[in-house]
Amino acid sequence: MTESKIEREGSSTSGYTCFSRACATREKDERFRGPDYLAELFMPPIPNILLNIPILRKLCMGKLFPTGIHEYVLARTRAFDEAFVNALDDGISQIVVLGAGMDTRALRFQDRNKGTMIFELDIHATQHYKREVLERKKVVLPPELVFVPIDFNKQRLADVLIEAGYQQGQKTLFLWEGVTMYLEAEAVDGTLAFIRTGVAEGSVVVFDYVRASVLRYENTLYGEDDIRGTVARAEEGWIYGIEDGAIEDFLAERGFKLLSHYLPSDLEAAYLTADDGTRFGRINETHCILIAGL
Ligand SMILES: C[S@@+](CC[C@H](N)C(=O)[O-])C[C@H]1O[C@@H](n2cnc3c(N)ncnc32)[C@H](O)[C@@H]1O
Repeated sequence: MTESKIEREGSSTSGYTCFSRACATREKDERFRGPDYLAELFMPPIPNILLNIPILRKLCMGKLFPTGIHEYVLARTRAFDEAFVNALDDGISQIVVLGAGMDTRALRFQDRNKGTMIFELDIHATQHYKREVLERKKVVLPPELVFVPIDFNKQRLADVLIEAGYQQGQKTLFLWEGVTMYLEAEAVDGTLAFIRTGVAEGSVVVFDYVRASVLRYENTLYGEDDIRGTVARAEEGWIYGIEDGAIEDFLAERGFKLLSHYLPSDLEAAYLTADDGTRFGRINETHCILIAGL
């Protein structure tokens, strides 16, 4: 069987989102500055130059990011950071980051970690690039961080995670950021089934998803046309989505309860609006974020 591009070379979409987070740290208005000050570690030489020359950075952001996606990534980073920090502060046993890409939370929040194990899962090639950069830049890794290579479409999460030291029956937070849209339905359902059966009550999963109408090319949402082109060019097509209005049933059928559901307008209100009402910008409407519990 031939290898897909992501298996051979790693994910380019994780590079885009990482570049977006790096650019967000250069935002002049500190109310809307991105928190991921380590994202720039992963920039290859040319993006690193672009990042640090304001006029080039602006040009590049305009060319590279589909309408409303930089805004979405900023809001999503803040939302997922919040979930991560809350879990650390609660002293949760484990955090599992599914499709971690260049996620830096284990590093950025290590001072708040009182012994929570953090498992970062990703396809081998993406994870290899990340680990190689961290090693080359002599970043000291926290002892709680465990890297776990996996192909969600080909391997069983339970087998791989348990082998890596994950403890079943413990209270766990699962972060699944920017991943479900790339997976087959069986992989999404299999992951949710594993989470439901393997963890303690009070465990939580946070994930974002693409709205199913986008997969049908209905083109009714702000920024939809623009982002579909970018995803197609990255050769990491979106194949999974959830219908609008179906989220509670979707979760109930899989044994979860809905804790929070953020539509793009909710994300703008919660994460991109300053105290005086100033809004950073409009979010691309193709994605939503959900927090589900057991
Ligand atoms: C858009 S990136 C998101 C990365 C990171 N969570 C973020 O928000 O920046 C999608 C991630 O899913 C991973 N991924 C995609 N398909 C995968 C698969 N079949 N198995 C494992 N990881 C996969 C990619 O390697 C990549 O890191």
